[in-house]
Order: sequence, then C-alpha cells, then structure tokens
Amino acid sequence: MSDQTLGAGPKRIDGRLKVTGQAPYAADHALDNTAYGYGVFSTISRGRIVSLELDAARAMPGVIEIFHHGNFPALHHTPSSMAKGNKVEETRLPFEDERIYYDGQFVALVVAERFDQARAAAQAVKVRYEEETPRANLEQGVKAHGTKKGKGNHSRGDADGAFERGTHQIDVTYTTPVETHNPMEMHSTLAHWPDGRLQVFESSQGVVQQKGAMAKIFNLAPHKVEVISTFIGSGFGSKLWMWPHAVAAAAASREIKRPVELVVPRQQMFTTTGHRPETEQTLKLATDDQGRLIALSHHSVSTTSYTDQYVETCGSVTKSLYSCDNVSITHRTTEVNRGTPTSMRAPGAAPGLFALESAIDEMALEAGIDPLTFRLNQFAERDESQDLPFSSNHIKEAAERAAEQFGWHQRNPKVGSMRDGREIVGYGMAACNWEAIKRPCDAHVALRADGTVYASCATQDIGTGTYTIVAQTLVELTGVPFERIEVELGDTSYPKGPISGGSWTTATTLPAIAEATRHAIDELKTRAVRSGGPFEGVDVEALTFDNGVLSFEGKRIPFAEALSTMKLANAEGEAHTEGADTSKYSYRSFGTHFVEVRWDPLLANLRVARVVSAIDVGRVMNEKTARNQVEGAVVMGIGMAMFERTEYDPRTARVVNNNYAEYLVPVHADQPEVDVILLDYPDTAFNEFGARGIGEIGITGLAAAVANAVYHATGVRVRELPITKEALM
Ligand code: MOS
Repeated sequence: MSDQTLGAGPKRIDGRLKVTGQAPYAADHALDNTAYGYGVFSTISRGRIVSLELDAARAMPGVIEIFHHGNFPALHHTPSSMAKGNKVEETRLPFEDERIYYDGQFVALVVAERFDQARAAAQAVKVRYEEETPRANLEQGVKAHGTKKGKGNHSRGDADGAFERGTHQIDVTYTTPVETHNPMEMHSTLAHWPDGRLQVFESSQGVVQQKGAMAKIFNLAPHKVEVISTFIGSGFGSKLWMWPHAVAAAAASREIKRPVELVVPRQQMFTTTGHRPETEQTLKLATDDQGRLIALSHHSVSTTSYTDQYVETCGSVTKSLYSCDNVSITHRTTEVNRGTPTSMRAPGAAPGLFALESAIDEMALEAGIDPLTFRLNQFAERDESQDLPFSSNHIKEAAERAAEQFGWHQRNPKVGSMRDGREIVGYGMAACNWEAIKRPCDAHVALRADGTVYASCATQDIGTGTYTIVAQTLVELTGVPFERIEVELGDTSYPKGPISGGSWTTATTLPAIAEATRHAIDELKTRAVRSGGPFEGVDVEALTFDNGVLSFEGKRIPFAEALSTMKLANAEGEAHTEGADTSKYSYRSFGTHFVEVRWDPLLANLRVARVVSAIDVGRVMNEKTARNQVEGAVVMGIGMAMFERTEYDPRTARVVNNNYAEYLVPVHADQPEVDVILLDYPDTAFNEFGARGIGEIGITGLAAAVANAVYHATGVRVRELPITKEALM
C-alpha cells in the first residue's frame, strides 16, 4: 500500500490551492461586464407588500434595474423531484406575488454597476406592508392551526399497551431550537446567458439538481444549462438545493443581458437559505422488571414554512437502533412564518438522537442499570423496522472500545460525586447512528498518452476530501501517483454525479470512478492487441495491467508509451453504476460518543473537557479526512449541545441573532480533547470498497452524551437545547 492508495491518509490534493487563495469559489469567478445584485429583504414576517417606493433608489449612482413582483419575468415551477434531478426545498419562486411568508424574504433586487452601489440603492428602497400577526414559533403554530402528518412514520406491536404494562416508565418531552448552517462561504450566484444558454457559478452541494431545477424554471432544454461549483466553503446541507437568490440572479441576468453576481448577505443566510427546524419530541419508554425495553414511542412535531412541508424525521433512528417489539414513531409539522427549513448535517437524526439518547439514559437510570450496560444489552441485532439484517454492525465493539479508552468503568455513578478541585466532573455517553445510502452515478476516466490519468464526475467536494479520495481510487487502480492525476468535479458538463450530502458521496461516486477506470484499462488492452498495437495478436485476456504497465510474457510497456505508439491521445472509460440493493440488507453506520463535562458551580462555568468517539462506517477511505470529519462533527455537536440557537422575536417572527457575533458556535477555547477511533470494517455487501460514508454520523448523539454527562455532574436533566448555564444554576 502506498501512502496515496485507499485507506492511507494523504493530505487533500486541493489543499495547497485552497490555503494559497488560488481555489476559485463561486463569487471569485470574474466575467466581463458583470453587474451586481443586492436584495431588498422583507422586514415583516407575514402579510403583503402594499407598495414599493423605488424612485430614490433608481436615481442613485450605477443603478441599472430594480426587480420586484411587479416587473419580475414570469417563470415556471420545478416539479422538485430528487429522483428526476430538479429538487428545490423552497418551491415558491422569488417575486412570484406580493405575499410575505417570512422575515428576510426577497421583496426586490437592485442590480447596479458595482456591489456597493447595489447595496446602497437597496437600502434606499422603501416598502409599505400590510402586516398580519405572524406565527413566530412552534408553540404559536400549533396553537393557531395544529399539526399535519409528516413522512417516515412507523409502528410495530402495541407501544401504548406495552407502555402501560411497564415496570419502569418514562414519559418526557425534549425540545430543540432552530439552528442555522452558517458555512463560512456565503451563498452566491454568478449567472450569465452566453448564446442563449444559462451558465451559473454557484456555491452548491448539488450542481446536477440545480441544473435540472433551473432548466424547469426557465423552460430550457437541459443541455442549455450548466452549473459550476468547483470549490465550496462548506454548506452543511444549506447548499444541497437551490434557493431563491439563484433564480433571482439568473432572471435578472437574462433581463439586463449582462452577467449578474448576487451574494446572499450573512443576515439573510438566517432567513432565505434554509435552517434546521425547531422540534418538540415526546418519548415514552417502558421496561419490564428485568430492565428490557418493551415500549418505545417517539412522537415529534417540527416547524415548517407556509409554502412547503419540510419534515424533520426525528424518529428515523429510533425505529432500528434498539431491539423492541412495540414501537411507534410519528412525525408531524406545524407551519410558522419562517423560510422553508432544510437538511442540516444529519437531518432528523441529530435532533432525534438528542431526544432518544437522553431518554435511554433516563430510562436506564430509572431501571437502576448503568447506561452503557443498558444499551449493550439492547442494541438491535437486526433492523427490526424493516425485518432485515444489517449489512455490517459493530456498535458493541465501538461502545466497548470507546468506554475502555475513555475510562467509563472508573465512573462513580452517584450524581455530583466526581470532583476535581473546584470542578464537578460528569461522564455521559450516547450512541450515534446514520443511514448508509448509495445512489446511481456516472463517471468518466481517461488514461492519457502523456502518462496522466484523468477523471471527472458532476459531484462536488464541499471540503470533505472528494477530490482526494477520487484520486486515491485512481492511484489504487492504475498505480499512477497523485502528481500525474487530474480530477475534475463540480460541473454539470461532467457525467452525472450525486449531491454532496446524506453522507453518500463516497459510496456513490467511487464505484463509478472505479468502473470507468476498469473500462479505460479494457479499452487500452483491446487497442494494444489489435493490428499495429504493441501487443498485436496477444489474447486480450492474457495481457495484464499493473502499476501503469501493460505486460505479457516478459514484455512490459508503460501505458503512456503504448498509447503513443498507437498515436492515441488516450484510452477512455465511461461508467454508470446503480444505487444499492436495499432488499437484502439494512445499511447503517454506528458508533458511540463518551463525553466528560466539567461544571464549576462557583463560576457557573460548563465545558466539555474530553470526547472519545468510536465510529463504524465500514472501510475508511482516507484516514486523515475521515478523522477530520468526525472531529468536525463533534465540534458541531458541541455547538448543538451548548451554543447554537437561532432566536426569533415571538411578536414579530424576525431573527434576532442573525450574525456571527450573536449566533454562538464553539470557538477554539471551547474545544475539548477529541479522540476518534475508526473501526474500519469493510462493508462489502454495500459496495466494492466497503465504505459507507462519514460526513454526518459524528454529530448524532453528541448533544445527548453532553446532556447525560451534565446530569451526572449536576443532577439537572436538561431537555431543552442548547444547554445553558442558566439551566444549571
Ligand atoms: Mo448533508 S445535511 O446531506 O449536507
């Protein structure tokens, strides 16, 4: 194994480009004659626009045009189907009518010669509204119009009946707030229409989906749209689907016949590019007198917008993590005056496992059983929700190894009993879990006469290392080192690839890359044995390709030389690979987090001091980037546990803390020691590499492990995220 093959831990191949500022992000692209857009955003959350005063803004320097519902071109809706490749989360078009559904909605778009001119003019636009009383939060939504049925519901046995029979019972409600993705790179679009085609530079986790949606909305043949996203300053889910700003920029560009660049200001990334919705989750658990779980219900309500039903599937893991005969899972939504929510890292599972893994802890303590033992005794051996075996599941080993490394067995179970000087030490743990998905994918690979290997696919690298693991796959299959490998991603002119989401990019993309590589090698061999080829007359089956060299009975010719001899530029391979067969196995990833918190009652200071996470995601493709994903997810999980909360004024439904200063995320001083154990058991039933994907699992369960540790330290059971110091005082 070289230090560049799969399983090794090479540095990101695009790392140098990024740290030297040479990697172009969406808004870095420069086109001649570009005009700049800036939005005018609603300052009410519910109602309608009565009038717009535009004259003053129109007269300002550099202003080219101001778009609004009165003059915006008529467009079309997208069917919004992921399978068909045209999904968006907010289906209403910008400027479709005068209705206002949320704070920060686009009400106008100023386009000017320069960015500062557009912004100044946008601030000079005056909007008169007719305001209605908004529904500002989950409670107000439920009170106003109740809830609607969501997706992903499940039931087996009789959860209510079994609950009543339980020896030990808990019936508790947990809440989680809206969280906002806040990637460093803001959403941005640079759109233009060369020769009647639409070309868009976008910070996107899904160029193929955006292309399809754009084609529908602008009524264009698919080949007339190209979406490019070569480098992304992360997204966490907020960039999976196109948001209104992209439509606004593309339409404005068509109207003024110039390229238009539109960057979404940080404040509006809290309103118009998705968020994780607020949830309220009721868990009812019961055990028999042996402490066996006999009833498990998980009923959740999450907020959605008035224009779309987005369902946060909080019970998605609850169905299959523990063995239990009587289970009931429901998801319902309530409409509020907020923008449409969307997937945020481990959607459903992240808030869902905060509730489930807190409740399991409460249940174990109620039954008088150590929380680790309680879990080890009841982790499901097969997926009882689908009645299928797991393709590969090492959660018990993950729990045991992490417990050992963490020192769980030194824990004194008595609340508040572990002290270190002024601080009270708390130990908590929780399981983590995420689905494994592999979807259809196309790819192209070429072995080139200059000795290089080239691969392309219209998936993206959101910073997680996709460029690098594609290159590693090529090293593995061709023996050609990184220096002679070129990987192109993030452009819809390449073969169709998956969204960078759902933790499925690795499992989906690499098999297609590998298949295309094998086809390229086959093409090379087939050519080489033909008349005029360097292996003329040799049986193609007898010709081998190893480490970039064709050989037969002692005759060895490097592929570049073979191609040159034949006057060929390259040998190419295309591939289409299918999604995973889900009829025989349930594919999931597993793990556990162990957390040490420290509570200083004198200063009312709470911190996470130590985290040990053991993760079973199948084969680890890149040791460095994989570890990095889990570490990042743990940090984000600490944010979820202790800091993050998008606050809405309950009277106006407007976002209060719409900036980096007031929306709290963990900073360097909040970082604990993080120890990641990667189990690395290849899951070959899932795909040839045995990799399940690692982007999301690390955030699941972390907040529960913190809450459980906080309870152990303080005796306070916090059921509302984030866990604040006030709650412990
Ligand atoms: Mo992830 S929430 O699918 O970017």
